Amino acid sequence: DWKMDSFVEKTVSEIREKVGDGKVLCALSGGVDSSVAAVLLSKAVGKQLTCVFVDHGLLRKDEGDEVESVFGPEGPYDLNFIRVNAQERFYEKLAGVTEPEAKRKIIGEEFIRVFEEEAKKIGAVDFLVQGTIYPDVIESGLGKSAVIKSHHNVGGLPEHVEFKEIVEPLRLLFKDEVRRAGRELGIPEYLVSRQPFPGPGLGIRIIGEVTADKVKIVQDADAIYREEIAKAGVDKGLGQYFAALTNMRSVGVMGDFRTYDYAVALRAVTTSDFMTAEAAEIPWEVLNRCMNRIINEVKGVNRVVYDLTSKPPGTIEFE
Ligand code: XMP
Repeated sequence: DWKMDSFVEKTVSEIREKVGDGKVLCALSGGVDSSVAAVLLSKAVGKQLTCVFVDHGLLRKDEGDEVESVFGPEGPYDLNFIRVNAQERFYEKLAGVTEPEAKRKIIGEEFIRVFEEEAKKIGAVDFLVQGTIYPDVIESGLGKSAVIKSHHNVGGLPEHVEFKEIVEPLRLLFKDEVRRAGRELGIPEYLVSRQPFPGPGLGIRIIGEVTADKVKIVQDADAIYREEIAKAGVDKGLGQYFAALTNMRSVGVMGDFRTYDYAVALRAVTTSDFMTAEAAEIPWEVLNRCMNRIINEVKGVNRVVYDLTSKPPGTIEFE
């Protein structure tokens, strides 16, 4: 569409003017905003851009590889891409920690630390890219949102990276405009239309202590849930939908044996602004199929529940 056409063209030339022959660093999360920002920068200044993608081991199933396939050397863009496989580091830091805000803080701080280490290896940087969009600008400007959960956005400003200036190519766009720009730039649809995913990732979808085993369970259950929702074509209109791992084990029976395994919770909400939300009415047969598949295919799970709670009084995430 013509408006996006001119946005891309105008922004690319603005970036070129601002950046000159400077070196640019971008923390790429694989989310819509940072992906679109990265591609705009890449289009404008090519190899002057380095994207650092920190895999904290709390991403959805295969997500790290998907991001790498788009932005890495096999992908269509001509940029410097660094994937940091920091999974073990994060799991070690999270061992024994159960309190939600403590988990958020650890994940956020470790993320910045990993990013800073990579920045140091790259050397002098002139510009830092931020995927800030218009609603972020308004929100921080009004200083609203009482801290119910500390929504640090992963990618928040590192303290120990020196740079001249921040580049925020999306700061005047709303989310749907960011998605349109992404399509205009040829970013794959599964990245462009992606549902929001919290910075701390699965860390806040595993109630209580995070371990590598639990991450695997929730990844596998979530992948089945998303696949069945998509196959049934009921994803349109959902604000967010995902599986979480409760911290509850209960008794079940499989064949002739008693089991004592985890319960997975499925959640799907409709929402206009994520400040309030309603549990979505996912068709029973879809939920039933997910229940069967998850219990049969995911080791360590013997019970599946569906979360009916609206926000308020609940929140969208479980922590
Ligand atoms: P809640 O659970 O507070 O979530 O109803 C509202 C929206 O915010 C996202 N969320 C986060 N995003 N870091 C993030 O970047 C966080 O710590 C975080 N906590 C919640 C959540 O996915 C939903 O879209």
